[in-house]
Amino acid sequence: MISTQDAFRKFRSRLELNQKEQDDASRRQKEIREVMDDAFDIDHDFLTGSYRRWTKTKPLKDVDIFCVLGAKERHYRDKPPATLLSAVESALAKKYGSDKVSKQRRSCTVEFGVTPVDDRTDYKVMSFDVVPAFAKEDHYEIPDTATSSGWTETNPTIHFDKAVEAQEAYSGEWKGLVRMMKKWNAQRDKPIKPSFLIEVMALEILLPPWGGDYRREMQAFFASLADRIHETWADPAGLGPPVSDSMDAQKVQQARNELRAAERQAAEAIRLERDGKLGDALRAWRTLFGPLFPVG
Ligand SMILES: Nc1ncnc2c1ncn2[C@@H]1O[C@H](COP(=O)(O)OP(=O)(O)O)[C@@H](O)[C@H]1O
Ligand SMILES: [Mg+2]
Repeated sequence: MISTQDAFRKFRSRLELNQKEQDDASRRQKEIREVMDDAFDIDHDFLTGSYRRWTKTKPLKDVDIFCVLGAKERHYRDKPPATLLSAVESALAKKYGSDKVSKQRRSCTVEFGVTPVDDRTDYKVMSFDVVPAFAKEDHYEIPDTATSSGWTETNPTIHFDKAVEAQEAYSGEWKGLVRMMKKWNAQRDKPIKPSFLIEVMALEILLPPWGGDYRREMQAFFASLADRIHETWADPAGLGPPVSDSMDAQKVQQARNELRAAERQAAEAIRLERDGKLGDALRAWRTLFGPLFPVG
């Protein structure tokens, strides 16, 4: 039977982006760009967010594409953010159908009709989040229907650099742990929202050095998230609203309870293994992380 350490290693690599998935993402990127070009003056576009930082969990969904608007679209900046998002929604609905497109707080989601089986999608991306953006100095402004100004400033380069820095300081294990924690969260119907909050907290919570034991690292990660989920977590680039602004008191309580329960399950899995029940231990980890966690 596989050791838990090897099971975690395998799990980590199963949550890594592979070439087929990147090919599918770039095919969709080109397709969306064409649709957006028909309706808007687009200066350039790029894939960003956790997809670009390699901190996205699987199955791959909500891959962010920033479509940077040209001068002709500047007028939208003087209107409510929902006006721009509605225009993006109609453009996308022409190609994908209105039942596949939905307006979010800062983007429009396009569903590609991909259904995962046991958390696998045959290397297909399930959905994209299309984000119309205005260039501003060295960063961007994007619509945000949940803030009073209606617009959020964001600097994807700073978020990218911080993830790289954390990864290096943590012996190359930081992104893997973040992906695993996001998998736990998605598996539980997202007690922590948005999943970017996990990554932002991990910048402060996962303190180097890497301890070497995945079981202990994840157990401690659950415990520290539970301890600090009630705090206000600022945008690491210092531009946007707090990343924790969707966590009200009730959500915080719920998340804390689920994190504490997960920490206990992790402790139990470690105990089972110490008692020589490796199969039970692996199954306990799989209960936390879902079918991509190997048991055999
Ligand atoms: N409150 C915020 N302020 C500034 N930028 C943000 C904020 N929330 C998210 N972002 C940026 O927008 C990206 C896309 O957001 P989202 O799809 O929610 O996150 P992710 O792709 O990391 O899961 C994030 O990766 C981050 O770079
Ligand atoms: Mg995203």
